[in-house]
Amino acid sequence: AAATPSHRRTAEVVTVAHRGASAYAPENTITAFRMARDQHAHMFELDVQETKDHKLVLMHDTTLTRTTNVERVFPGHAPWRVRDLTLAQVKKLDAGSWFGRAYRGERVPTLGETLRAMGGSRLGLLLEIKEPRLYPGIEARVALELRRHPEWLRPGRLVVQSFDWTSMRRFHRLLPAVPVGLLGTPASSQLPGVATYASYVNVPYGRLSAAYVRRVHGRHLRLFAWTVDSPSAMRRLISYKVDGIITDKPDVLHGVTSG
Ligand code: G3P
Ligand code: CA
Repeated sequence: AAATPSHRRTAEVVTVAHRGASAYAPENTITAFRMARDQHAHMFELDVQETKDHKLVLMHDTTLTRTTNVERVFPGHAPWRVRDLTLAQVKKLDAGSWFGRAYRGERVPTLGETLRAMGGSRLGLLLEIKEPRLYPGIEARVALELRRHPEWLRPGRLVVQSFDWTSMRRFHRLLPAVPVGLLGTPASSQLPGVATYASYVNVPYGRLSAAYVRRVHGRHLRLFAWTVDSPSAMRRLISYKVDGIITDKPDVLHGVTSG
């Protein structure tokens, strides 16, 4: 069972900035995370993958094409997978221009750089391990990086999540003090098994019902809903008593919760 997150300062829902304040700044960059802080988010979410030389970097897609200029910088490297380039190569990429000229020169951050840059902030972290099956051993490497930044291991500051539930079982064994979350919607019959190692069930909000939220809470699990950008959907989910809302627009959720 999860303890009450310390970043949850009031009875209100936890605001989680999805890939940072990603409606307003390039996703998974330090700029987007700082913007999340400025927009009163309680936590920021990010996606971790691995380069060819096993360095942990932030990237949502398994290829670099959507959010960097990799095709221009490395024309011979199709299909431009994260796992096929070294960190030195990834660091040559511009991860901001695709979003807007103002963000030109933004770099793909490593997990370590992010933990350092945001360590002194008041924010909590929702860390997603993306496609762990592509990166055997990534759970241990993430755990090692977190141990290097113990400020993130303070109770209530960090949740690790994945769509790959086996990976989360593995991570839970490696760092049992860190709550893990399962992305997806486990069947109600699966919840007792899930509760043996997970603390969160983080679900797509579209078909979520108040009854499902009650069933999750009945197993002493917490529930975050994603990815919610409209005030009406935010209000509906708050009425269902979800514990957190993952949004590209933390400022909108702040308006809903403080208005
Ligand atoms: O945190 C929930 C959300 O990040 C899961 O979907 O595709 O944005 O990683 P995705
Ligand atoms: Ca994610």
